[in-house]
Amino acid sequence: MSHPGSTMQRPKLRWGVVSTARIGRQRFIPGVRAGTQGEVVAIASREPGRAQVVSAELGIPRAHGTYEGLLSDPEVDAVYIGLPNGMHAEWTIRAAEAGKHVLCEKPLARRAADAARMTEACRRAGVILMEAFMYRLHPQHARVQALLQQGVIGAPAFVRASFCFSMDTGRRGQGGGETNRLAGGRATVDVRLQAGLEGGALMDVGCYAVNAARYLFGAEPVEVSAQQRVDPEFGVDTAFAGLLRFPGDCLALIDGSFDAAGTQRYEIAGAAGLIQVERAYLPGDGPATVHVVTSGQQRSEEISGANQYALEADHFARSVRSGRLLPPAEDGLAQAAVVEALYRSADTGQAVRLA
Ligand SMILES: NC(=O)c1ccc[n+]([C@@H]2O[C@H](COP(=O)([O-])OP(=O)(O)OC[C@H]3O[C@@H](n4cnc5c(N)ncnc54)[C@H](OP(=O)(O)O)[C@@H]3O)[C@@H](O)[C@H]2O)c1
Repeated sequence: MSHPGSTMQRPKLRWGVVSTARIGRQRFIPGVRAGTQGEVVAIASREPGRAQVVSAELGIPRAHGTYEGLLSDPEVDAVYIGLPNGMHAEWTIRAAEAGKHVLCEKPLARRAADAARMTEACRRAGVILMEAFMYRLHPQHARVQALLQQGVIGAPAFVRASFCFSMDTGRRGQGGGETNRLAGGRATVDVRLQAGLEGGALMDVGCYAVNAARYLFGAEPVEVSAQQRVDPEFGVDTAFAGLLRFPGDCLALIDGSFDAAGTQRYEIAGAAGLIQVERAYLPGDGPATVHVVTSGQQRSEEISGANQYALEADHFARSVRSGRLLPPAEDGLAQAAVVEALYRSADTGQAVRLA
């Protein structure tokens, strides 16, 4: 991220955005702008006209009519990949080969082998790779970690984590949702329902619950078992539930669904108490709340509001500057191994052991 001729001591990270996805337009680009460490200098779309329209709407200086064009843009230091899940591996690897740092949307991959190829390509190219689990940057989770370290609940033994919502019919390609508007009125099926693009409830929302369990225990599961509902029309899981056993016989129950009205929570319990976060993954910008139950008494702590997308973008920019990411890209590889094992269990009806 050198800027020849720049007089700034700490130049901003120059982001290129791969695709005109909802998440990029509505969350990530505003997040970069709400932060202090980066600027969005370019956006790319498969359709040149759409790249032009969105760059004009959002005031982004350069529009590329192909993703390749953005990757060869010398003014771009890092790319944000907001593509459908099934395209993450290919475009992360291509970005790394073009010398760009990569913030890839969650989930990095459905299979550990793909995540391994991604992390290896980035390691070889000397660029930073991060899986965009932006929720981790919100200060409410740092507070939970501090409470755990203080031993408030005793030794953590059980996690329950859930992210569910009821997907509206417009998203299923039967109505006039936003995806349809951007597709020029064509009826399109939400990418989360497309098997060929690696949609599914575990990939989209259940992965947060998996990630939270790994984060809260600070460990990787040794065995998983799972059940799923596969939609007969779309061929993807629209409801998913899993049981994860961690070292020390710690257990986690996780679920994710497009069919059930919304929870987005986790709780972690030990013999001495329980910590609950009710808006764990999308808390909004306002104050957040952490509930602590000990000795039958509940107290609630208010945590200052934060824009977790701004924190994510700034965290990534600082990581690029320091040449080191916390957590490292390998966290995304470990996450993909768990997701793959959960799907294998749900497909076979057998528990799956992890190495
Ligand atoms: N961290 C978060 O808070 C969060 C929230 C939502 C989603 N996500 C993640 O972000 C990614 C994108 O999700 P989204 O809901 O924003 O998706 P989306 O609105 O459907 O956008 C996906 C974009 O990918 C491009 N694309 C390339 N090939 C495509 C294809 N064959 N079909 C459809 N689109 C294609 C399109 O952009 P162009 O036409 O411009 O090339 C499209 O706009 C997913 O990995 C998802 O898990 C993260």
